Amino acid sequence: MSDARLPVVVEALTKTYHADRAELAVRAVRGVSFRIARGESVAIIGPSGCGKSTLLHILGCLDRPTSGRYLLEGEDVAQLGEDARARVRNRHIGFVFQSFNLLPRMDAAENVELPLLYAGVKRSRERAMHALERVGLADRAHHRPNELSGGQKQRVAIARALVTEPSMLLGDEPTGALDSHTSREVLELLERLHGEGTTIVLVTHDLQVAGRMERAIRMHDGGIAADGPSSEVVEAFIRETTGAAHAHP
Ligand SMILES: Nc1ncnc2c1ncn2[C@@H]1O[C@H](COP(=O)(O)OP(=O)(O)OP(=O)(O)O)[C@@H](O)[C@H]1O
Ligand SMILES: [Mg+2]
Repeated sequence: MSDARLPVVVEALTKTYHADRAELAVRAVRGVSFRIARGESVAIIGPSGCGKSTLLHILGCLDRPTSGRYLLEGEDVAQLGEDARARVRNRHIGFVFQSFNLLPRMDAAENVELPLLYAGVKRSRERAMHALERVGLADRAHHRPNELSGGQKQRVAIARALVTEPSMLLGDEPTGALDSHTSREVLELLERLHGEGTTIVLVTHDLQVAGRMERAIRMHDGGIAADGPSSEVVEAFIRETTGAAHAHP
């Protein structure tokens, strides 16, 4: 089922932590199936503990499912070992974290260049500078993280995630550490990247962020409770959680 338009095909995916010890077992993901088309932007929403980060980490090949299928760019990656997973991750995935994870002693350009150096890619500095231009930070290339605002730090982290030209950009609460103004700035960048064809999958608590993605997958207790256009999924979620008939975010 290799389809070039479908970077992600997930079938009956489960993740049970401590599967070998019944009294400790946590069924964090309980058999989810979905596909993500190239160029889509998807928010994953749902209450704390429902399995969002677990699912995103599996999509990002940071972790391995307990059972089920995960085809990434047509390749079955569900049961790859750690080294093979790292290679797949470097080739296909750009990951952005809530806490930026930039190296403090390196300037913005060096941080962005790092994945290319690991991969032994040529003209790495030139490509890092181009990635910084894409996120509107060429003029901060020689600033270290502590000389940048929160929003600028996250834009550097996004440039670092994109510099290897991954199949998709994954974010776990990428605006979670930002105030509403800088959060908006990062969101506008993500929307622009999506407009340029980048596939984006974000876990977020922020329903305004979710509403700006095309599609939302709502999780509940490790399963998928809703999957569709974000406007509909987010509105239904607000309606249910507030009990109001016509709630607005
Ligand atoms: N390494 C782990 N070992 C055991 N249980 C875990 C582990 N990581 C997460 N869990 C459990 O799995 C469930 C899902 O966790 P997960 O981090 O995916 O939730 P989440 O939806 O991202 O929550 P939040 O919104 O709070 O970040 C939770 O019950 C959590 O306690
Ligand atoms: Mg989480």
